[in-house]
Amino acid sequence: MYINLIENRRSVRSFKNVPIVENDLTLMNDYLSELNQSQGPFGRRGEFKYIAVSNHINSEGQKIGTYGVIRNPAGYIVGITKNERDFLIDFGYTFEKFMLQVLSLGLGTCWLGGTFDRKMLTEKFEKHSSHIIPAISPIGYHDEKPSLIEKTMRKIANSDQKMAFEEVFYLENFETPLVKSDAGIYEIPLEMVRIGPSASNKQPWRLVLDRENRVHFFLSHTPNYSGKLMFDMQYLDIGIAMFHFQSALDEIGIKGDWCVIEGLQVPIDEPTTEYIMSWKIED
Ligand SMILES: Cc1cc2nc3c(=O)[nH]c(=O)nc-3n(C[C@H](O)[C@H](O)[C@H](O)COP(=O)(O)O)c2cc1C
Repeated sequence: MYINLIENRRSVRSFKNVPIVENDLTLMNDYLSELNQSQGPFGRRGEFKYIAVSNHINSEGQKIGTYGVIRNPAGYIVGITKNERDFLIDFGYTFEKFMLQVLSLGLGTCWLGGTFDRKMLTEKFEKHSSHIIPAISPIGYHDEKPSLIEKTMRKIANSDQKMAFEEVFYLENFETPLVKSDAGIYEIPLEMVRIGPSASNKQPWRLVLDRENRVHFFLSHTPNYSGKLMFDMQYLDIGIAMFHFQSALDEIGIKGDWCVIEGLQVPIDEPTTEYIMSWKIED
């Protein structure tokens, strides 16, 4: 199911001005409970809550502001986690799974790491100073008629322009681009990574396939990207990419595991490139 959902996913910023119907709400709440119990590849878990809104205002009369970027959502999912690398990656992994699950109900979402009023939500939900709200998402039924703001945001982020396969995937080292026809069993899982969402559509993931059929995930940090924020938003992007990859492998029936390889022999030229984790096929 995930391959199809990933292929049909896009960020949704304009919603129909209607509440979520009961049946969908029940299933969404089931997925939310699952999300709250899920761990990512690093074994970390976040905490997620649903807030129904009308006109961006919750039942307590508080406004969830998005600087006008989001129109008519039925509600928001707010996520909290520890401000540490592994927690942020797993936040991306588990929250993306939820977003694809609700898409199967016909509900649209949009990762928001920047354009929301973090202050109000932080005061409301952050109980520990070590915790942050890395991102939230509006949720509701997509209004197919694209709003001006939706068109503008897609244009600013160049959302429809995804990088070529050979720009993000490599064979053995960063000198040798991987062409699709050489990707073998990984062709579809890699394609699912390539078309995934990322903050400002920066697509910072770089993957290296080696001769032992292992796939190494690297993050090519965009310099100064997270600037004013107190955390590195691009760790969420990597977590999302890892979920897209894993869910496609599961669907195709390829078994394997995540592992961190100490002393990995892949030369990195760029100081902005960071090794994250590897996927190893089952023997
Ligand atoms: C971690 C993360 C944070 C994002 N933050 C925002 C945001 O603050 N505001 C916004 O309008 N879009 C945000 N986006 C959506 C991206 O702009 C979008 O994924 C990208 O442009 C690609 O478009 P697509 O998702 O339709 O493929 C974010 C996406 C990710 C993955």
